Amino acid sequence: MVDPRHQQPQPQALFSLPTPTQTRRPSIHGHSAAADSPPFHSRAVRPPPHRFLPGLRVVPMSSSAVARVWRRSLHDGLLRGSPWRVAPATARSASTAAGATAGPKKVPPHPRKGRLLTGAMIGLAIAGGAYVSTADEAKFCGWIFKFTQLGNPLFALLDAEFAHRLAVTAAAHGFVPREKRPDPSVLGLEVWGRKFTNPIGLAAGFDKNAEAVEGLLGMGFGFVEVGSVTPLPQEGNPKPRIFRLRDHGAVINRCGFNSEGIVVVAKRLGAQHGKRKMEETSSSVSPSTNDVKQGGKAGPGILGVNLGKNKTSEDASADYVQGVHTLSQYADYLVINISSPNTPGLRKLQGRQQLKDLVKKVQAARDEMQWAEDGPPPLLVKIAPDLSKQDLEDIAAVALALKLDGLIISNTTGKIPLIGCGGVSSGEDAYKKIRSGATLVQLYTAFAYGGPAIIPSVKAELAECLERDGFKSVQEAVGADFR
Ligand SMILES: Cc1cc2nc3c(=O)[nH]c(=O)nc-3n(C[C@H](O)[C@H](O)[C@H](O)COP(=O)(O)O)c2cc1C
Repeated sequence: MVDPRHQQPQPQALFSLPTPTQTRRPSIHGHSAAADSPPFHSRAVRPPPHRFLPGLRVVPMSSSAVARVWRRSLHDGLLRGSPWRVAPATARSASTAAGATAGPKKVPPHPRKGRLLTGAMIGLAIAGGAYVSTADEAKFCGWIFKFTQLGNPLFALLDAEFAHRLAVTAAAHGFVPREKRPDPSVLGLEVWGRKFTNPIGLAAGFDKNAEAVEGLLGMGFGFVEVGSVTPLPQEGNPKPRIFRLRDHGAVINRCGFNSEGIVVVAKRLGAQHGKRKMEETSSSVSPSTNDVKQGGKAGPGILGVNLGKNKTSEDASADYVQGVHTLSQYADYLVINISSPNTPGLRKLQGRQQLKDLVKKVQAARDEMQWAEDGPPPLLVKIAPDLSKQDLEDIAAVALALKLDGLIISNTTGKIPLIGCGGVSSGEDAYKKIRSGATLVQLYTAFAYGGPAIIPSVKAELAECLERDGFKSVQEAVGADFR
């Protein structure tokens, strides 16, 4: 006999009814549980009563004892009284001496309702599990995106900047839906020698510090623009500085380039870049032989980096050059943002001569860096939506003369790729911008109000518009209204 003092403590504990030594459990198949099964524990010490339910006692159990309990409860719940039940008396008497001597006893009537309920619940669980596992992934993914809409009224109750912070944190930690459905092929396009699976992007200002690139791209945006990033960290304007105009479905922003600065952002993008390279190296998929690069530096989606200037900086072009030096290696495209009304003097850079000087310096900074064979990232300028016709003509002239790679603009046609941004909340809005000359389209406010569900909905509606009007691709529809 083992001295109880030398016994090892048992590794597991379950809540169970009092043990056979204290109370007799209800009989199973006419046998006393105490008689026909070994005790649940071999300790002589009486287990302490449960803290909240004194009728229960915490009983240390070995894993085999746990398994026995599960087997027994399953047997009780499923088979007792059912037409498939095993013959208890013979089965038991063969394995236990106590059973053999006790002989078969009458099975006490089991509450029929309970049996039915147990059966129904197990049936439901099995059917539910089977349905989810066979429901195609696309359907399931669609439900998840729709499900996120339930959170929108909750977000609407929060302060706008706090809600925004919460959304960025959720995306940064992967608490956002992941798009598993491939984009309709009609949405695919090639810009700057890169393949976009769809033309719908997230505009700058949402992920200012590149915290959530993976999560945001994973939600199904064709591209995500981080920033604006300033060379030095800066607080931006005092809060509150983001306001919802709910009746108009609009957001007023006077953030003033709050930014963690290029060093912090470079570290984040660098880490992500390294991770992506590792995944590419370990992936068994051989690289595409196609000349057009699939996806971008941050993953299957394209990453834009939007550069700003510090509020107190005297030399705007030096700020943008610093941004290029530090961040361009991680960017699929770069943006010189001179559109913001919240940084004093910024919009003056949109004047013909100032813009020319600025673009030349930034282009030179980018081009003197060493680049792999896929070359430097394209350079775009983001301009304000409310410029005069003369301003627009000046900007267009500079852009063409200096072979700028693109403009981010609210509405116009052009000979270089344009990203249409502002007021897009549906596929039809995106389609209008494309027909007006935009190759790509960005949105922000619609995402802030509609959440992740807006992404598949805009894409699906855009695909419908293109197909309805007989376009085989986005590219075919670009500028269609001006041909
Ligand atoms: C809160 C907020 C912050 C923004 N921050 C930036 C920014 O840092 N840099 C930038 O280029 N645009 C910024 N934007 C402008 C957006 O990128 C976009 O151009 C503008 O919101 C229009 O698009 P929408 O109508 O889809 O919202 C910001 C917009 C909002 C609402």
